[in-house]
Amino acid sequence: MSTRYKIGVIGTGYVGLVSGACFADLGIKTTCLDVVEDKVNKINKGIPPIYEKGLDDLLNSVVVDRNLLQATLDRKKTLDESDIIFICLPTPSDKDGSINLKYVKEEIKELAKLYKNMDSYKTFVIKSTVIPGTTETTVKDLIEEYSGKKAGIDFGLAMNPEFLMEGLAIENFTKPDRVVIGAYDEKSYNMVAELYSSFSCPILKTSLTEAEMIKYASNSFLALKVSYINEIANICERVNADVGVVAKGMGLDSRISSKFLRAGIGFGGSCFGKDVSALLSLSRDIKRESKLLAALLDVNETQPLRVIEMLSEVLPDLNNKKIALLGLAFKPGTDDMRDSRAIVIANKLTELGAIVKGYDPVAKETAERVLPNINHEKSAIDALTDADACILATEWDEFRKLSADDFSVMAGKVIIDGRRALDWKKLRENGFTVKVIGQP
Ligand code: UGA
Repeated sequence: MSTRYKIGVIGTGYVGLVSGACFADLGIKTTCLDVVEDKVNKINKGIPPIYEKGLDDLLNSVVVDRNLLQATLDRKKTLDESDIIFICLPTPSDKDGSINLKYVKEEIKELAKLYKNMDSYKTFVIKSTVIPGTTETTVKDLIEEYSGKKAGIDFGLAMNPEFLMEGLAIENFTKPDRVVIGAYDEKSYNMVAELYSSFSCPILKTSLTEAEMIKYASNSFLALKVSYINEIANICERVNADVGVVAKGMGLDSRISSKFLRAGIGFGGSCFGKDVSALLSLSRDIKRESKLLAALLDVNETQPLRVIEMLSEVLPDLNNKKIALLGLAFKPGTDDMRDSRAIVIANKLTELGAIVKGYDPVAKETAERVLPNINHEKSAIDALTDADACILATEWDEFRKLSADDFSVMAGKVIIDGRRALDWKKLRENGFTVKVIGQP
């Protein structure tokens, strides 16, 4: 076992559940708190309430086989049974882009009220993405006010951001590039660092605020890379260059790296847009407005519309045209459609009078809810059948494997590849007009 400590995880969303299960897998006794009974019941049977690759086996192992993780609705029990408490609650965006701390604040208050009557030393760790300064001020002040205890004396405080990518979250947790631990004091740091003692990556010790900033600066930088390569792709189209070759040449420079240089229709998901907007909103509040952050968001808003411009060059009037939209999830490997660029494309096509035939290998259920205005097909072939054109919006492997024969069920011969995933050469040889982001 890597530690003598037991942990509590508040919130069994994507971050909380993956982190809890991975800590339990290290042999750490873990209690997960949630307010939704159905989730708690599922977790206690070893069944993940969310889709994440490998989580079903992992949860089954730590809950059913090894009895290392339990879920509960009981806050006091969670607190009683933990030395270190991870707060993994959502921090949604408000209209102006700033984050809403209501879930974190309410939970901290309730925990602190219960903690008031306990003698044991505990360390509270914020894992939720919170604006720099939140842990040091809001969180610390609330715990002190409602528990009557003092940070650094009666309890510990830390900020331990997550860098988990959906679809790769377990791998990202177990083999991270780095672990960042922002701590109020030495004891808090040591307690949290002990949980990671079996990890071989660098463990970076920072202040609470630096840890919060590292999370925002990292996500914003990755989003910047994506918007940057998308702008380069748009230029490449006009100068007779292929952005794939250009990105390869750039990525071989170790200072740049090849990661996050895949051009396409822009970034989606629950994190990049939200985090960049929150950092931008903060920069404005503190009179250090970031022009780069505003620009990268602008690029990401217009980038999905590029595929519609490309389509209009071949089919100027989209009214009543049937368009197959392949891929609706914000990226492959997930059923998550939050902020998916496919939504922007589907809505624009509908606005132009097109009949959209959408299909996604796993996000069908979510898609029916999020996009009630389009037709939802059962397979890629169903979506393609009789379509005047096709737009590829998510690079699922299933679509990479589609052959010219598969596309021949279309009524038209136009394919727009928004993710640079198809075999353009073969398709063109078979008489298709294929337009690709970042290609001349
Ligand atoms: C992102 C970060 O990568 C994680 O490190 C972070 O922990 C997480 O947000 C979070 O804050 O919780 P995630 O949103 O799961 O993870 O997805 P990514 O794999 O980063 O992709 C984000 C979007 O960028 C996707 O729509 C993807 O298609 C797009 N993308 C990514 C590109 O268009 N090009 C690329 O080269 C890379």
